[in-house]
Amino acid sequence: MYHFAPDPDQPKAEAYRDLAEAAAALVADEPDPVANMANLAALIWQFVPQLNWAGFYRLIDGELVLGPFQGKPACIRIPLDKGVCGAAARSGQTQLVADVHAFPGHIACDAASRSELVVPVLRDGAVIAVIDLDSPEPARFDAEDAAGIEMLARLVAGLA
Ligand code: SME
Repeated sequence: MYHFAPDPDQPKAEAYRDLAEAAAALVADEPDPVANMANLAALIWQFVPQLNWAGFYRLIDGELVLGPFQGKPACIRIPLDKGVCGAAARSGQTQLVADVHAFPGHIACDAASRSELVVPVLRDGAVIAVIDLDSPEPARFDAEDAAGIEMLARLVAGLA
């Protein structure tokens, strides 16, 4: 059994350091990337408040394909010219979207989503996946959230 206990009173940067530490411990002894992504999605869900979706899309044959996640069932395939996830995968840049309704081409997998953070996972400079977080709160994510999830993306980049 795993005991990772987020502290709701912690400053955000500290909470993300704890999350990264827990994540590293969780994947340390397991080589299977799907198992590791599944546990990391669950860990993000547990540690990061005010989310309605958290998970992975993997870049396979030029499009994003749904990976392990928490939240409602989601779009399975996303072309790179569509959505916030496509923008992150295409540009290799983190997308911090305060108002998803104002983002051209946003894909609404869950009508409750109001803001979104998508972080690319880069291996040897190439995007291999994205980590997607959705929130029902407008402007839920800031630069600290982006930096925290980018830490996890570096960990994911090293998975088999
Ligand atoms: N909103 C995303 C699609 C994925 S879901 O949020 C899970 C997008 O616009 O790419």
